[in-house]
Amino acid sequence: AEPLRIALAGLGTVGAGVIRLLDTNAALLRARAGRELQVVAVSARDRDKDRGVDLARFDWHDDMTEMAARDDVDVVVELVGGADGPALTLARGALGAGKALVTANKAMIAHHGQALAETAENAGLALKFEAAVAGGIPVVKALREGAAANAIERIYGILNGTSNYILSTMEASGADFGETLAEAQRQGYAEADPAFDIEGTDAAHKLAILAAIGFGARVDFAGVSCEGIAAIRAEDIARADTLGYVVRLIGMADLEGGEDGAPALLQRVKPCLVPKGHPLAHVTGPTNAVVAEGNFSGRLLFQGAGAGAGPTASAVVADLIDIARGEIGAPFSIPSAQMTPMARAEAGHRTGR
Ligand code: HSE
Repeated sequence: AEPLRIALAGLGTVGAGVIRLLDTNAALLRARAGRELQVVAVSARDRDKDRGVDLARFDWHDDMTEMAARDDVDVVVELVGGADGPALTLARGALGAGKALVTANKAMIAHHGQALAETAENAGLALKFEAAVAGGIPVVKALREGAAANAIERIYGILNGTSNYILSTMEASGADFGETLAEAQRQGYAEADPAFDIEGTDAAHKLAILAAIGFGARVDFAGVSCEGIAAIRAEDIARADTLGYVVRLIGMADLEGGEDGAPALLQRVKPCLVPKGHPLAHVTGPTNAVVAEGNFSGRLLFQGAGAGAGPTASAVVADLIDIARGEIGAPFSIPSAQMTPMARAEAGHRTGR
């Protein structure tokens, strides 16, 4: 079969990780995808930076959107980041040029996923974003496909590794928020500007995407109420401990009401008291964990690395394998055109467990 020809935009940690994965696992990827996954062109801000991978074999483009439109490109991988700006221009350009799109960009999908999904579906193109939610954990696929037979009743979890590192480290050391954040930055978990991590925005992006998939709703980032961890003090954690709890930043989506009138989707990110016996209380360090409760599956728990070159590349390349096999699918759990909010959830409530 012909190779799947890939254009890769953004060569940071994850982009370099994708190239390394494609090189290291080339034989098994060819077997599983049924064809070669071949990078033909790359683009990034700085051409000369040493990324530890050989880029000389790929065509270099200064202009990402021009690269995306090349005749010999089948799929564009967007690893640029940012909700708007160059990433969104690239995403629209790629779909507009008839290319499939794979992205790790949670902010862009949380804000523009609905519109991009409609564009992709109308054009019969794949739009995939496994890497945008919880890094290496294949939770998008698990919800869309593995749990597809269920009405999902609740999705919640630890969706930001940096804030979980901070809270669990404060718990273990008794140190205060400021010094633990500084340590998280030294360790390379928190960004130099850690606002999205500690204010809950990053978790909210991921929650909005998970909720859309799980509940068959439109992606509604503006509907997420969000409170971060910056106000948590060492004393709060110590008091929680004496009462039998730990503090975790939890993103939760579930349905309110339902008896009279349509159920409303509630999406919240906030620091929560988690009983020490709950599985999420044992999630420490820069880890993500997602719990989904289906009306027939019961409680499902997914845990793993929510960030990092290897885990995120693993999710990006899994999407590329799907595309190589011709598995386009709907970007969310059901086609956008049918995404009447809550219709599926209502049906689920009638069925019950
Ligand atoms: N900075 C994020 C985290 C990783 O700490 O989980 C990417 O969303």
